[in-house]
Amino acid sequence: MSISFENRVSIVTGAGGGLGRAYALELAARGAKVVINDFGGSRDGSGGSSEAAEKVVTEIRAKGGQAIADGGNVTSFDDMQALVARTLAEFGRIDVLINNAGILRDKTFAKMSTEDFRAVVDVHLIGSANATKAVWEAMRAQGYGRILMTSSTSGVYGNFGQSNYGAAKAGLIGLMNVLHFEGARYGIKVNAVLPTAATRMTGDMMDEEMLRHLAPENVVPAALFLVGEDAPSRVALLAGAGTVARMAIVESEGVYLPAGKRTPEAVAEAFGTISSLDGSIETEAGLAHVDRIIANARTAEALAAEIRA
Ligand code: NAI
Repeated sequence: MSISFENRVSIVTGAGGGLGRAYALELAARGAKVVINDFGGSRDGSGGSSEAAEKVVTEIRAKGGQAIADGGNVTSFDDMQALVARTLAEFGRIDVLINNAGILRDKTFAKMSTEDFRAVVDVHLIGSANATKAVWEAMRAQGYGRILMTSSTSGVYGNFGQSNYGAAKAGLIGLMNVLHFEGARYGIKVNAVLPTAATRMTGDMMDEEMLRHLAPENVVPAALFLVGEDAPSRVALLAGAGTVARMAIVESEGVYLPAGKRTPEAVAEAFGTISSLDGSIETEAGLAHVDRIIANARTAEALAAEIRA
């Protein structure tokens, strides 16, 4: 099965370098018309120009591909609406949105200003919501859309010194989970990638030997699979250094505490069983969890009534 993007129009945010550039080049090589968004700022999000985006456009055109540059800032909903208007004027539709733009302002929480916290959440979480909101109507109207969120191991597992970044990246898993349901009836599939790659962003965090394995190109296959025609939905793939794995949120089966035994001490006593992930459950939706706990309560009460009878 070959995955083609012929006649598909893609927007990649933050595509002036790193992973976004790698996604854009491969999308174009597979036939997509690509909008290269990048506001061209520094790693902490200051400054900005459309030069980085224009460079990638030149690269794509040199190989015979179609691309346009956009210097919009994802933190501005107006910029994202303008980006969408330009894309529709130029290419007539929008099939794929890869939310990739990002910045870092690492510090321990003790030393982090609320401004640094907000700036990072603003680019990753609000920026992805802005771009997604801007394409949503066009995708709904055409009954087709593929949206990729860029999460991170920092968001789902945690990394020291990244409270702002981890919170934003976990938020993107939440956004994916909900938009999966809201987009389904319009043919919109929403997924997430959790990359590990040597880019400007990770430049000073990894040693030479690790950097060798971590070419951004190694993340591209998982990302493009998740925005292809036959993509699944609400799937989060970890990708880097040749490994592709699925990240999932599961809950333990837990314990049922009968009425009268619902105390903190009972929780402490059962904590081993509560924590055990043997037989863990991947819950399909928030309401499915409610159904499960109500069913547990009903079963336990019915059993108790039977014993009494
Ligand atoms: P990068 O720094 O090379 O690329 C990020 C791009 O986003 C830059 O070109 C920057 O100019 C652009 N950008 C930043 N703020 C913007 C804004 N407000 N509007 C428009 N463009 C903006 O970094 P990299 O590594 O390629 O990161 C891409 C994505 O992957 C980010 O979301 C990052 O958090 C995520 N990620 C990367 C990992 C890695 O190992 N490299 C690990 C986990 C996640």
